[in-house]
Amino acid sequence: MAVDSTKTEAPKGEESQTYTFVTVCKSEDLPEGEVRPLKARGKQVAVGRLVGGQLFAVGGRCSHMFAKLGDGELNGTILSCPWHQAEFDVTDGCVAKWTQAQPFKAIYDATLPAFMKRGIPTYEIKEEDGDVLVAVD
Ligand code: FES
Repeated sequence: MAVDSTKTEAPKGEESQTYTFVTVCKSEDLPEGEVRPLKARGKQVAVGRLVGGQLFAVGGRCSHMFAKLGDGELNGTILSCPWHQAEFDVTDGCVAKWTQAQPFKAIYDATLPAFMKRGIPTYEIKEEDGDVLVAVD
């Protein structure tokens, strides 16, 4: 995996760190409407391409029980976790719908405040010379 020396601005909410673009795959490996589990500098990321061509990169582990989100299903901008179907919007990392699977739903509805049903990080992404690059710390 090549490391690009180009620095970028930090993702939203992470203003003090410096992020570096690294190559994660070839452009041709990301057809529209699909998502892949990939690694960027050892960090698990879910990288995909929306219908229409826009790329996205989000945290690769579900905030519920850490399932690999790159193995999930993409519908529009919504990425569903492959284990208990929590849904995340890949454009901002926010929870679109928390898991409805039992017994998790009953337990969390009773015990977890809403802020603990947290979203996933989003990362800058770009294409250059047929490669897809993601900015990670
Ligand atoms: S691990 Fe993702 S919803 Fe449970």
